[in-house]
Amino acid sequence: MRTIYLVPALIAAMALSCAASLAQTVKVGVINTYSGPFAAVGEQLERGITLYMKLHGKELPPGVTIELIRRDDTGPNPEVAKRLAQELITRDKVQLLTGVVWTPNALAIAPLVTEAKVPFIIMNAGTAMITTKSPYIARVSFTLWQSSYPMGTWAAKNGIKSAYILVSDYGPGIDGEAAFTKAFTEGGGTIAGDVRMPVTTPDFVPYLQRAKDAKPDAVFVFVPAGKQATGFIKAFGDLGMGSAGIKLIGTGDVTTDEELQNMGDPAIGTMTMHHYSAAGDRPANKAFVAAYKAEFGPNEEPGFEVPDAYDGMAAIFHVISAQKGNIDPDKTMELLKGWKYDSARGPIMIDPETRDIVQNEYLRRVDKVNGRLQNTELETIPMVKDPWKELNKTK
Ligand code: PHB
Repeated sequence: MRTIYLVPALIAAMALSCAASLAQTVKVGVINTYSGPFAAVGEQLERGITLYMKLHGKELPPGVTIELIRRDDTGPNPEVAKRLAQELITRDKVQLLTGVVWTPNALAIAPLVTEAKVPFIIMNAGTAMITTKSPYIARVSFTLWQSSYPMGTWAAKNGIKSAYILVSDYGPGIDGEAAFTKAFTEGGGTIAGDVRMPVTTPDFVPYLQRAKDAKPDAVFVFVPAGKQATGFIKAFGDLGMGSAGIKLIGTGDVTTDEELQNMGDPAIGTMTMHHYSAAGDRPANKAFVAAYKAEFGPNEEPGFEVPDAYDGMAAIFHVISAQKGNIDPDKTMELLKGWKYDSARGPIMIDPETRDIVQNEYLRRVDKVNGRLQNTELETIPMVKDPWKELNKTK
């Protein structure tokens, strides 16, 4: 009699253990800035991750789940980022790493992912050479050369004869300065002055005063997005630079969409080159912004880090799904090379040769529309590869 009951119980037990052995949880380490003076930038990135998980979190193959393990680097702190990456790799045994707002942090992590063979999908850090530091790095965000180089070309062609350069004194600022200078001077422009400012400076007035005294046609700027950008625009307004006839041009970091309403009218007229504007009227962006507002509030606009992180999650889901949760580092990198996605920013691709992002750059102007500031897209430069890598190819 007993065996009759035993058989189904045995089958059930076997089925359970079978399902357990098929179930896969992929651990993904997220290093981001969740606290400190730069937390506003980290919050944008986090919102991109959250939004993707909310809309697509259940789209993994049956039995495959993802576990995000979040860690706070507290800002541009390479020592902290390195320790966190080390712990995530050795103790938490993450199979993928992502996040990372700051260039110095990404550079500190690069040797660790090479040694441990952990694919590292960068969602922000934008200094061009970062991707050359490890074959296990792919970037879904941007490079400063991608925006600053076409900005220099545009400025030279559009009546700006002299420009004064103000950049944050670290990787992305130095890239922005080099890229803008090259394109602008090759187009016939003159550099009226060139000053690097501390990354964390709370006061931009002394730098802008010197720029004003030099009487250039324009100031070209790179500062990190977030509260630094708002501080810069406010100082530009306070010093009456606009009424003195000096144009403000730069990368889109300085007119980051989520801060525009805090910047106020001094931002109006600023011309920037960037890969994303919340005001972009592509259908994919309209849907993206609607989903963002539904989640975070009707008066919130996504900054560029939001689609960048969201697309980073799409890339992560792609590699997890394609391998049914069994992550092989080399196979993962092959899957990332040439990956294409219809992003809110337009079509994007990971360059198979460089593992860096290829995307549209948009020339934008800050306008006030129905009482709200926006980055109006005026021109599109399609599918820009990182110019720094393109220019250094033949050398
Ligand atoms: C960077 O550190 O690479 C970085 C940070 C903030 C930005 C852009 C680049 O807005």
